[in-house]
Amino acid sequence: MRSLNEHIREVRAFAPASVTNVSCGFDVLGFALNRPGDEVVVRRKKQGPMCISRVVGDANSIPTEVERNTSGAAILAFVKTMGLDDHFEIEIHKKMAIGTGLGSSAASAVAGVLAVNQFLERPLSKSELLPFALEGEKITSGGDVHADNVAAALLGGFIAVRSVQPVDIIPLHYPSQLACTVVHPHIELPTAEMRRILREQISLHDAVRQWGNIAAFVAGLQNEDLEVMRRSLNDVIIEPVRGKVIPGYEQAKEAALKNGALGSGISGSGPSIFALCDSQEVAQQAGQAMQRVFDELQIQSDVYVSQVNARGAEILEVKRKDERLKMKDER
Ligand code: HSE
Repeated sequence: MRSLNEHIREVRAFAPASVTNVSCGFDVLGFALNRPGDEVVVRRKKQGPMCISRVVGDANSIPTEVERNTSGAAILAFVKTMGLDDHFEIEIHKKMAIGTGLGSSAASAVAGVLAVNQFLERPLSKSELLPFALEGEKITSGGDVHADNVAAALLGGFIAVRSVQPVDIIPLHYPSQLACTVVHPHIELPTAEMRRILREQISLHDAVRQWGNIAAFVAGLQNEDLEVMRRSLNDVIIEPVRGKVIPGYEQAKEAALKNGALGSGISGSGPSIFALCDSQEVAQQAGQAMQRVFDELQIQSDVYVSQVNARGAEILEVKRKDERLKMKDER
């Protein structure tokens, strides 16, 4: 049984959005963005069970029962395992809608467990927090666990998921100049539904093509070989199914590639579309070109341009009973 630092009354944590699959790596590749991202504030209360006291932002779209909320379920799993009482209240600041393909549910789950870990003076490393955040993530994926968003949001950088059970995440090297544009058209596509529509069986021929792309893409990242990365950002398995469900998908992807992106594809389960680029300038241009496609279709959209976030989730603020202390997470 662990004991809480009784002097801490409130912790605010941030976890970033993430782009997963990265075209060729369904459920096994991902990277974190600088923005957007969710913030979760966890506060001690004197008594009573854990509750979600407030949701700021996308308030109507997420459940506020602890067990059905991704952040709540993740914190609950952590609290149980660590043998803590559950006198916490959780405030969730959603900076991105759910069902965007930006790992919104994973970000809230990650920020929640990171905050509670801080109350205990960080006994667990970020990697050790991953299984708890996954308990939250399970809720949105229809019970089908994928660790790509959670791992990217927690650890930052580019990651490969070698295995979910047991959890085995491999951080990947990447060229520092990489920049990414994500365009989020305002259409909601729930992750569970976007997983349900996928084919359960694929041909050996397609599998071989996809394995070739993944292997080459990871080598491209490692060797900072942008041309290899450009050739490998292809998806012959998932995109043909999901791309049809996203209005304007093909045109937006084409616009990104015409404007210099190394590659473009569906971010996570969509509808957001990412374009990976070799500089912020190219990312800006690709983003504007993609947004014009949605403007023409009269679909509202947001554009985010960001470098790869190397830090991942972090503690933004710790409030003590007697003082206010701002601190950065040391990871
Ligand atoms: N890899 C997951 C999927 C990510 O594509 O379903 C969900 O955001």
